[in-house]
Amino acid sequence: MQQLPCRSLLFVPGDSERKIEKSQDCQADILIFDLEDSVPASGKPAARKLLGKILGQPFDSRKFVRVNGLNTGLIDEDLDAIMHTPPEAIVLPKCESQCDIQRLSDKLDQLEADRGHAIGTVRILPVATETARAVRNLMRSDWSHPRLTGLTWGAEDIAADIGSFGNRDENGVYTGVYQLARDICLLAAREARVDAIDTAFVDFKDQPRFAAECAASYKAGFDGKIAIHPAQVPTINKAFTPSEEQAAWARQVIALLDHADNGVAELNGQMIDMPHRKNAERILRSVVS
Ligand code: COA
Ligand code: MG
Repeated sequence: MQQLPCRSLLFVPGDSERKIEKSQDCQADILIFDLEDSVPASGKPAARKLLGKILGQPFDSRKFVRVNGLNTGLIDEDLDAIMHTPPEAIVLPKCESQCDIQRLSDKLDQLEADRGHAIGTVRILPVATETARAVRNLMRSDWSHPRLTGLTWGAEDIAADIGSFGNRDENGVYTGVYQLARDICLLAAREARVDAIDTAFVDFKDQPRFAAECAASYKAGFDGKIAIHPAQVPTINKAFTPSEEQAAWARQVIALLDHADNGVAELNGQMIDMPHRKNAERILRSVVS
């Protein structure tokens, strides 16, 4: 599992100099400069040029780029523009299988070799559930790959793919297919030993519901969450940073188990053993110093 913080991943439209500038003050762990759906076809050439420039500049946040999908005919121009100074990772939308990850990896092998970068440097973050085929493939196969840095999922594009008009019920809770896609994304990320990144919450003015969704996401096991607006970033960072109370619990669990003869101990009347230690270690790994 990655040790670098990946709590908040803010999407920034790649054609907006204004938003790119603003994104530097947002405290996002990761910025995802977008060349896909937030940039109209007419704006893509200028966006590619802009990102080619931006990627060479120092930012406090880690830098990822979302390119256009493998079957759009646009991805080679995207990669060509950004691989002079490569981002840390490429976000691959509409990724449908481990073969798709390999197809992108092959392109990156070639570009890294041509541009004098070590082969395998640039990582891949697939958006893994944007079509019905993707979800079914994610259910039945292991998507592990040396370039994989995480897995994330999308709830909007798959709705369009299956012809569904909504992905949440009247209480805002994801319905069947979307809940399934989210759960499978989490399980597949754990199987591949990479970061599990929860999807965006598009109703960006509803902070209370967003905060509740972030808390539930952290509790479920996700490592981070996508943001689409700077105002969402502090909420995500807070939800995905263990509270002092959680950190204290984790330290206690580890101390008690370190001194237990048979790997089992008692804390506040509860039995604790290896699964608790693993959770405690996860909490302490994500304590930001
Ligand atoms: N990254 C960086 N800065 C952003 C931003 C983002 N994603 N979204 C908004 N801002 C900036 C705006 O430029 C504005 O700053 P300014 O007034 O100094 O220019 C400030 O934050 C407040 O923005 P606001 O007026 O509330 O929102 P907006 O109407 O400008 O934009 C969205 C709303 C949804 C269009 C915008 O948040 C956005 O583009 N989000 C990302 C969309 C995206 O990438 N989607 C693809 C992935 S799902
Ligand atoms: Mg999309």
